[in-house]
Order: sequence, then C-alpha cells, then structure tokens
Amino acid sequence: MSAEYQVVGNIAVITMKNPPVNGLGHATRSAIVESMKLAALDDAVKAIIITGAGKAFSGGADIKEFNSPKAFAEPSLHTVINVVENASKPVIAAIHSVCMGGGLELALGCHYRVATTGAQIALPEVKLGILPGAGGTQRLPRVLGLEMALNMIVSGAPVASEKLAETALFNELIDGDLMLGAMAFAEKMADVRPLPRVRDIKIDYPNHEAFLQFSRNTVRAMAGPFPAPLKCVEAVAAAVTKKFDDGLIVERDLFLELVQTTESKALRHAFFGERAASKVPDVPEDTPTRPIKSVAVIGAGTMGGGIAMNFANAGIPVQILEMKQEALDKGLATIRKNYENTLKKGKLTQEKFEQRVNLITGTLSYEAIAQADLVIEAVFEDMGVKEQVFKKLDEVMKPGAILASNTSTLDVDVIASFTKRPEDVIGTHFFSPANVMKLLEIVRGKKTAKDVLATALALSKKIKKTGVVSGVCDGFIGNRMIEQYSRQAGFLLEEGCTPEQVDKAIEKLGFAMGPFRMGDLAGNDIGWAIRKRRYVDKPHVTYSKTADLLCESGRFGQKTGAGWYDYKAGDRKPYPSQLVNDMIIQHSADIGVERRKISDQEITERLIFALVNEGARILEEGIATRASDIDMVYLTGYGFPLHRGGPMFYADTLGLTNVLMAMEKYAKGRHGDAWKPAALMLSLAAEAKGFN
Ligand code: 3HC
Ligand code: NAI
Repeated sequence: MSAEYQVVGNIAVITMKNPPVNGLGHATRSAIVESMKLAALDDAVKAIIITGAGKAFSGGADIKEFNSPKAFAEPSLHTVINVVENASKPVIAAIHSVCMGGGLELALGCHYRVATTGAQIALPEVKLGILPGAGGTQRLPRVLGLEMALNMIVSGAPVASEKLAETALFNELIDGDLMLGAMAFAEKMADVRPLPRVRDIKIDYPNHEAFLQFSRNTVRAMAGPFPAPLKCVEAVAAAVTKKFDDGLIVERDLFLELVQTTESKALRHAFFGERAASKVPDVPEDTPTRPIKSVAVIGAGTMGGGIAMNFANAGIPVQILEMKQEALDKGLATIRKNYENTLKKGKLTQEKFEQRVNLITGTLSYEAIAQADLVIEAVFEDMGVKEQVFKKLDEVMKPGAILASNTSTLDVDVIASFTKRPEDVIGTHFFSPANVMKLLEIVRGKKTAKDVLATALALSKKIKKTGVVSGVCDGFIGNRMIEQYSRQAGFLLEEGCTPEQVDKAIEKLGFAMGPFRMGDLAGNDIGWAIRKRRYVDKPHVTYSKTADLLCESGRFGQKTGAGWYDYKAGDRKPYPSQLVNDMIIQHSADIGVERRKISDQEITERLIFALVNEGARILEEGIATRASDIDMVYLTGYGFPLHRGGPMFYADTLGLTNVLMAMEKYAKGRHGDAWKPAALMLSLAAEAKGFN
C-alpha cells in the first residue's frame, strides 16, 4: 500500500507514502483510488485531504515506471484525477516541500489547495523532454493565467508557493502546522456546494493569438534540438482555444509523442545517471562521512585557484599554499578578479563577493594547513613534485585528513604510496575551468578507504558537481577515452579532412565544440607535452604527427593568435588557415597517404565509436561502475550533446550491432588495430543488449 488512509473526526486523510518523493507510481495511484472509495462510502466523512509523507507532497509521476507498462496501467493518473475531481465530497490538497509534475496535476484536480510557504511548485516535465500529461497544461493556465503558466511549463522551473499566494492556485497558505491548518480549512468547506473545479474556470486573455505566436517564436529560438518546449506551447494554446476535454486530448497526444522521443529518453537517462553516479555498489549509502569544515589547496595555478573557489562558494574556508609569495599573490589576484567579474555582471551580491573572497586565504607554510580536513594537491603534473608534496603532507597533516590529488594522468596508487596512510588518499580530478565545469572525477585508489570515497561523493554534491567514481588507469574515464577520439581526429586530417570539416561534422551532431577548435581554446601545447611524456614508453601507439608539427611551428591556439585556425586580434572566431591546411596536405604526402573525400558520417562515426569502444573497455575492466557513469562524464565534462545522452547511450540508440559493423569497416582502413572491438561490446551485441 503506497498511501495511508485515516479518518480524523469527520475528515478523511489520504497520505501518499512512496519514498523518497511520493512518485505517483501504479501502487500509489491505486491506493489513492481505493482510499477515495472508502471516503465516499463512509457517511461520517465530510471532506477529504490528500497529502504526502516525508520530504514531498509528490515529485510527480514515477519516472522509473516510464519505460514499463505500469506507467499507463489503470488507474492512470488521469483516472485518479477524475475520481478526485468528480468526488461528491470536497477534496483538499495539503501541499508542502515539493509539489511537482503529476503531483501538481493531482493537486489541480482537487477542489481546494492549501500549502505551507517555501513549497517548491513546478511542472518540470519539459526538463525530461516531455510535457505535463495529466491535465497540467490545461489546468495551470486556468489558475495562474496564460502567461505565468506558460512560463512555468516551458521552463520547468520551480516557484516558491508564497510567490503564488495571490493566485487561484492556492486557497490558503498555512503558517505553522500544515495538517492542523488543512483540517481547519476542510471543516470550513465541508458543507460548501457546489464544489469548485479548476476545469470550469475560463481563461481570459485578450489577444491570446498574438501572445501565443510570440511565444512560439521565442521558444523555437531557445529550444535547440529539443522538441518538448514548443509542444508545451501547443498544449497550452489548446487550453485557450479549445474546450477543456478537447484540450486534454491534445495534451495527451503530444505527451505520448514526446515520451517516445530519443531526446526525452536521453534526458531521463541523464536524470537517473546523475543520481546513480553517487552510488558505489560496495560502499553502502549509510557509510559515515568525515566532516569537511576546512580545506587546503596546494598550488595557486590554473586549477588550484578554481578548485579553491568551489569551496568558498559553498561557504567552506580554504587556504591556498604556494612555494613563493609571488605565485601566491598572482593566484589570489586571479581569484579576486574572477569574483569581481561575476560581481560586475550582477551575478553576485557585494556581500557574497566579500564573503567568498574572505574565505580564501594564502600561506607559504605547511604547518599553517595542518588542521585542514581535506587537502587537494594541484601542483605541476610531475611525479617527482607530487612525491615531494605528498611526503610533506603525510608529515604535517592531522590524522584523518583526506589527502587528494588533482592529477589528470598520474597513478593515484603511486601517489598514495608516498604516504604512510594510503587509505586517506584519493584523486579529485576537476576540469578546467574548475569553478565552472560540472564534472568531478573521483579517483578511487586500491587502498582508498570507503569513508573517504563516501566523503568525496557527498562533497561533490555540496560544491554542486557531478561526482563520478573512476578506478585508477591512465587518463581515468574521460581522458582515456578522449585519447582515442583525438587519435581518430588526427588520422582524419592525414587521410583527407581539414580541421574545419572535422569540427563542423561533429558540431552538427550537437557537440559544443569540435576537437580542433577545442584544442585552440585549451592550448595545443598541453596535449603536445602530454604526448611527449606518455608516448615515450608506448612506441606501439600510433598517432598523427600533425598536431606535433603544428606546435613545432608555435601555433598553440588562441593564446598565440594561431593554432589549427587563424585568429584576429581581440576576436575568438576561428578562420580556416591556408597555411595549416597546406601543412596537413604536405604531411599526408610525406607519409605516403593518398588523400580522399571523407563524408561527415565517417567523421562522426570514427570519433564517437572510438569513444564508445574505449568506454566499453573501461566498463569491462571495472574502471567505471556503470555505462551511465561514462555518459555523465561526457555530458558534464566534455560537451557531449545532452539530447544524445552520452556516448554509451548514443551507441545503444544506434544499436551495438550497427556500431560494430561500422567498426569492422574502419578496421579495414589504416590503423585498423584501433578498431579491435571490446569483448563486452561483442557479447552485448550477441545478446541484442545495450550498455544501459
Ligand atoms: N519519480 C521517481 N523517482 C524520483 C522522482 C520521480 N518523479 N523524482 C525524484 N525521484 C528520486 C530520485 O531518482 C532519487 O532517487 P535515489 O535516491 O534512488 O537516487 C530520489 O528521488 C531523490 O531525488 P533527488 O536526489 O533529486 O532529491 P532532491 O531532494 O534533490 O530533489 C526533486 C527532489 C525536486 C523531486 C527532484 O528529484 C526532481 O526534480 N525530480 C523530478 C521531478 C519531475 O520531473 N517530476 C515530473 C515527473 S514526470 C510527470 O509527472 C509526468 C506527468 O505529467 C504525467
Ligand atoms: P599550473 O602550472 O597552472 O599551476 C601549478 C601551481 O603549482 C603553480 O602555481 C606552481 O607554483 C605551484 N607549485 C608547483 N610546485 C609546488 C609545490 N611543491 N608546492 C606548492 N606549490 C607548487 O598547473 P595547473 O594547470 O593548475 O595543473 C595543476 C594540476 O592539475 C596538474 O596535476 C594537472 O595535471 C592537473 N589538471 C590540470 C588541468 C588543466 O586543464 N590545466 C585539468 C585537470 C587537472
């Protein structure tokens, strides 16, 4: 039973009980209908209150049921709402905490609604690529007016209940105990007839056609590849232009259309992927975490500064340690400037600005940071330097302090071995710019303690990052995969592409930026340095030398005014470079490769399938716990298009057999060894399964 039925005096109280957020799954829907029947049959009951147990009124339809027959099994949410709306006794929704999606639609089917202040009210379906499918698009405009309702439905953004206090959505806002207030309200309304129904309210909006046309134009321009926002406008338009029941049919049809789209499936995958990432199979959810009240960062360079800002933004004091006063001053000045820019843009109040700047202090002394609960090392990417730093940290840091490294390529187990407390050592791999990028790869060493891992995961939420756990391997999840993508991008240049052609093809698929524009932005010298270091002991790894040639000519990217593209002073726009294109053509001739015309399809397949194959190996080896973790890494750290759900999800949508067939074709070309399929891919394809 996912709802409790109680009678208190002459009021029936139906309490939804489906933790964590009272999702309106089949069992909960059935329980509400059964309870409504009991209330109808009991002559002593004069009014009915519907509320939710725990931390929500209701978070809406149970999204976990979406791909199962349970989603549409009777009683559907429509049926539940019909039963409530047509009840002969007044039904009152007692709303608190979270009232979203189907939860709000259920409340709109009630005759009255009372709420606490601070409750989050939303129709967030659009964020899952769908639209409210149980009357929300028809009823919300009737209580909030066309404009406000459309804004809420198209944005999916929550609004605090008190901001809606003056609207017909709420009959009363209740200070103090919600249930006491709701009971008093129910007593008051018990004998009032007729029972008001939202569906009977008329929407009055003069010149609605002009407004709707304006909305269509605006929403079309903002929706990008997602179909849902425009369909939301269509559904709301039906609320104004059609009879209520006809509007419901329009909404239902659009909902059913959207729920089947890949875009919606991708958004739902990302929603659950984000939450799944924080779960590690052998680390129980109740694993105690270590309190993190103060943080120290070693190194005030590009990463150290950004990392420190994350903690200051979360109200945690941070000390930054540098070797020299000059470097420290420079690092602190950069942080200040970053905050000043945010302040100037009006995205930070003066008070918050000062608070955050003051939370970050500098030091040159290890003794000064000894009491920090967590220390994150962000010094040069050199094992010798890391060794020096970790030996020192082991010496000075208080027992129980977590020792983290921001290394992007080095072996965290080796780093841990520099200390006598490897169980306290972990990798926290931030992405640049560290104060902006959502991704945090949490690298679990062989000896990392479970509570250290649990603490890092909890902390990632606190600093608003998507924490994804990776095992130790070269490049962890993200960079290990991107290496294969970059290798293919290089080979494509040798075989006939220009940087512009590669970038355009992958950007057309939805990537924020192609590999060459990205290289110019990040600095081609970074990859050059990594290749020099990493490929020394990997002579078997083939890669195109075009990027090395580019760097040898000093074209590091935007920072040198020239990279794969030409740049004009003060302008970040890339212009195709004749010089670079000639250099590439010459290189093909030098290595004896005959250039050919390469299709966009080949470009995107080679780049993405290289990611997918390496992702499969990463899964196979247990470096990533689940395919959706890999997708989260790519969605939050590498600009993979959200509507395609991440590389592993994308491969699933194409079908693994199709991906393997394409790989087989490319294996016949140059560097065929790169296309040896991961065993996991072969076995999944053989069983007609996907990664997710
Ligand atoms: N169905 C099923 N599970 C849900 C859920 C839902 N609607 N909403 C949240 N959950 C689950 C999460 O998966 C998570 O589960 P886990 O603990 O097993 O990982 C748990 O609830 C807690 O979620 P959060 O970590 O997000 O908790 P927060 O307290 O930060 O946020 C929330 C709570 C605001 C409700 C947030 O979870 C949220 O935005 N949920 C989505 C709400 C939504 O989109 N509702 C619309 C559903 S579609 C619909 O109603 C269709 C209808 O129109 C027909
Ligand atoms: P950086 O060169 O900008 O900064 C390093 C800072 O560390 C310098 O300010 C230097 O003075 C200081 N430093 C060096 N040795 C020190 C020591 N012994 N004690 C105290 N301070 C010391 O380097 P960046 O880019 O910030 O990288 C730092 C770490 O983060 C590296 O391990 C790198 O691989 C990793 N990383 C870098 C990313 C990037 O995009 N730059 C992305 C993710 C990880």
